Amino acid sequence: MPDQHTVLFVCLGNICRSPLAHGIFQHLVNQHNLAHKFHIDSCGTGAWHVGNPPDPRSIQTASLYGIDITNQRARQFDPNTDIERFTHIIPMDQSNHRDLLDLGTPKSQLALMRSFDASLPKPQDVPDPYYGGDDGFDKVYHMLTRSCEGLLVSLKD
Ligand code: 4NP
Repeated sequence: MPDQHTVLFVCLGNICRSPLAHGIFQHLVNQHNLAHKFHIDSCGTGAWHVGNPPDPRSIQTASLYGIDITNQRARQFDPNTDIERFTHIIPMDQSNHRDLLDLGTPKSQLALMRSFDASLPKPQDVPDPYYGGDDGFDKVYHMLTRSCEGLLVSLKD
């Protein structure tokens, strides 16, 4: 393993999916006593929610599983700094992936979140739960957890 892995989770608004991914992955890394080996962050490609805490439904879902994401604040992806600072840039869906490529992110630094979800034969999107019902967040939580577990295995090897 290199000295430190730098992992950036990216969605559109940075209030629903990527803050949850960030919280779940940090929790997993902490449980494995690997916090010193990782720098983890999240951001959005859009700027609508910059400075805001995660969506209350993401906070509530994380809290149900013992994860506190209340201290996170939304920020926008900055190609001028994030491409250099993060070796692993993880978009939640194909649209985020396209946007990151358009912003100059090298393909070699990008991997779709659910390419690490071992329950899938090929990667699918993490669906945006923003406009759906509350159960969408629980489904997303489980997709993200499986993906975070796969991501950690891939980085530990
Ligand atoms: P996220 O969800 O990308 O998972 O944070 C969204 C939240 C807000 C908006 C879009 C997606 N929005 O358009 O405000």
